[in-house]
Amino acid sequence: MQVSIKTPEEIEKMRVAGRLAAEVLEMLDEHVKPGISTEELNSIAHDYIVNKQQAIPAPLNYKGFPKSICTSVNHVICHGIPTEKKILKDGDIINIDVTVIKDEYHGDTSKMWVVGKPKPGTERLIQITQECLYKGIELVKPGTRLGDIGHVIQQHAEKHRYSVVRDYCGHGIGKVFHEEPQVMHYGKPDTGMELQEGMTFTIEPMINQGKYQTKLMADGWTVVTKDHKLSAQWEHTILVTADGYEVLTKRSEESF
Ligand code: MF3
Ligand code: CO
Ligand code: CO
Repeated sequence: MQVSIKTPEEIEKMRVAGRLAAEVLEMLDEHVKPGISTEELNSIAHDYIVNKQQAIPAPLNYKGFPKSICTSVNHVICHGIPTEKKILKDGDIINIDVTVIKDEYHGDTSKMWVVGKPKPGTERLIQITQECLYKGIELVKPGTRLGDIGHVIQQHAEKHRYSVVRDYCGHGIGKVFHEEPQVMHYGKPDTGMELQEGMTFTIEPMINQGKYQTKLMADGWTVVTKDHKLSAQWEHTILVTADGYEVLTKRSEESF
């Protein structure tokens, strides 16, 4: 399928869905503490999305995914499944990835937390990964090419001797959760598709402390680093505007 250009009516719905997804992450802030299980976080998020937001948690039953959010702890890169057994402890790092559907449109966003007292190096991995996302976002405007975005992310990660996960990428988003284009987090300048006003897509770099190779666990979902070193990820849903970008999943702590 071709890349879809959203109409003004669709963009307004994407704004609403994006805002709701961001609000779930803001709501979760006070709950991400040592002693809570990832299943409890899932159930708090699920109830909030379904009852308070009257929206749909997109991951639930998506291609068989069993829960409403993804919770990826330490060496889990993405798509971690919440469970009662996974209890957050001091020094863990966690990514929570929230996708909501409101009025048929998707908003997709994730952020990192350090649980309790940080271990050496973890805050830096998390910060550089967020800078990778922000550097990618800053390039978004009509005429920028996807390879430009991948390149700036890869340069920043590798400058700090981290590696960029190749096996998973960002994606177009709208009525469909994952649509074209694929948004790679590595690449060469002046290559790939040109951005156009009205496109909506995610940028969601996964950056590893060690090597970039991944391994899929036997549950068919959980993706881990092959070398079991730490991985971080941040994600936003972005709209290409006439002269730049709008971050549809912006949280209040962020200023774009
Ligand atoms: N939210 C993830 C993304 O950023 C996708 C999760 S799919 C699931 O694209 F099934 F694992 F939930
Ligand atoms: Co996504
Ligand atoms: Co996501």
